[in-house]
Amino acid sequence: MKTENRGNFSSKIGVILATVGTAVGLGNVWRFPYIVGENGGGAFLVIYILALLLLGIPGVIAEFIVGRHSHANAVDSFKKLAPKTKWHWIGYSGVLAGFLIMGYYAVVVGWTLEYLTQAILGNLSGMTVEQYGQVFDQFAGHPYWPLVWMVIVMLISTFVVARGVSGGIEKISNVLMPVFFLIILVMVANSFFLPAAGQGMKYLFLPNFSELEPVAILIAIGQTFFSLSLGMGCLITYSSYFKKDVSLAKTATQVVSIDAMVAILSAMIIFPAVFSFGMQPTEGPSLVFKVLPNVFQQMPLGTLWSILFYALLFIAAITSLISLLEVVTAYIYENTSLTRRKAAFIVTGMVLVLGVFASMSFGPLQEVTLFGKTIFDLLDFVTASILLPVGGFFISIFVGWFLDKRIIATELRIKHPKAHLFIKGYIYMLRFFVPACIFAVFLYSLLG
Ligand code: PHE
Repeated sequence: MKTENRGNFSSKIGVILATVGTAVGLGNVWRFPYIVGENGGGAFLVIYILALLLLGIPGVIAEFIVGRHSHANAVDSFKKLAPKTKWHWIGYSGVLAGFLIMGYYAVVVGWTLEYLTQAILGNLSGMTVEQYGQVFDQFAGHPYWPLVWMVIVMLISTFVVARGVSGGIEKISNVLMPVFFLIILVMVANSFFLPAAGQGMKYLFLPNFSELEPVAILIAIGQTFFSLSLGMGCLITYSSYFKKDVSLAKTATQVVSIDAMVAILSAMIIFPAVFSFGMQPTEGPSLVFKVLPNVFQQMPLGTLWSILFYALLFIAAITSLISLLEVVTAYIYENTSLTRRKAAFIVTGMVLVLGVFASMSFGPLQEVTLFGKTIFDLLDFVTASILLPVGGFFISIFVGWFLDKRIIATELRIKHPKAHLFIKGYIYMLRFFVPACIFAVFLYSLLG
């Protein structure tokens, strides 16, 4: 195992921006708004925030403890902390999940780049609602265009990962994430001036619990995992690059808060816009590709807003794709004699093969299904509904029951007279509450 020269995030702000970079992704800007739309608005938001606080923060801290204490990738971290046991299988499951998520995530990141390009070329205007739908279907089902974009986004990610932790991942996050925040704030400000601003905000912030179905709780928990990149060793890998002076509890709280804020801000952009132009937010996954172009074209300066929006989506998505590639690359790089660059290229090659099948689920392979799901949907289901919750379950059990409490105390280093109480409470959460909640989601996704 190569352990020397693993690299570190060089500054505290770099730690936050890179970790926010992995967490904030398609899950926030694309998935969250349509899930809120499908699950009745404000009441769902309340449940989601509770899930973030009660499961998200403890879960993120657990991965941080494992990663920072072991200074190793998703698999070797468990080998170091629990030698001669089977715990490192959590790591294998994480590396596999990272690979499988990339297989379909890269396809969607490619779509965002196509839409950004079309927006810049001024081609996303002058069509009817139906035409936007057809444009998307034709593009996604095209035999090679989506593949070209997928290759491009994977090569960008490979380039960044090959340059290492501080020279690649940290640098790109330091540039892209501030741009992301600037764009999102400008777009939210614009939202307040739209005709149906009030209706959109009410839909999002006024909870109506009579519309909430019990399954929404489980959907909110699933979303928490996906959105925080939890349960697959991504945060273990990133925190293995944290220096000793980074406060884990504080960083976890900041990252979770920023992730939640971005999800809410994205919904604040989308709902007022959708309501203002006579559309519905219940459109599902195609909301941002089929519905939004039509909404933007009706706004003053529409082309500008669509360029900004797809740039926003692209930045969110590419920084998450980079983190996925890093999880698999770090494992391979540290366990072979390959250079980082070669390892990243090999992983990219394998992802592209998988991605071709995922992408073709919208075209030639539309009819190829297993359990009624296309290859694309299957990758999403197996990872988000099975591998991440199962990974989260075992990581929580590992830290709560197996890991020496002194390691937890050393890593948390909370300076407060009641610190021991906090740590005790935290361990209880990991032992009972977190696994019980995840178990419920897991049962639901298998039976539902
Ligand atoms: N958190 C990312 C998002 O919200 C997705 C992701 C999941 C990234 C798991 C890395 C690991 O889009």
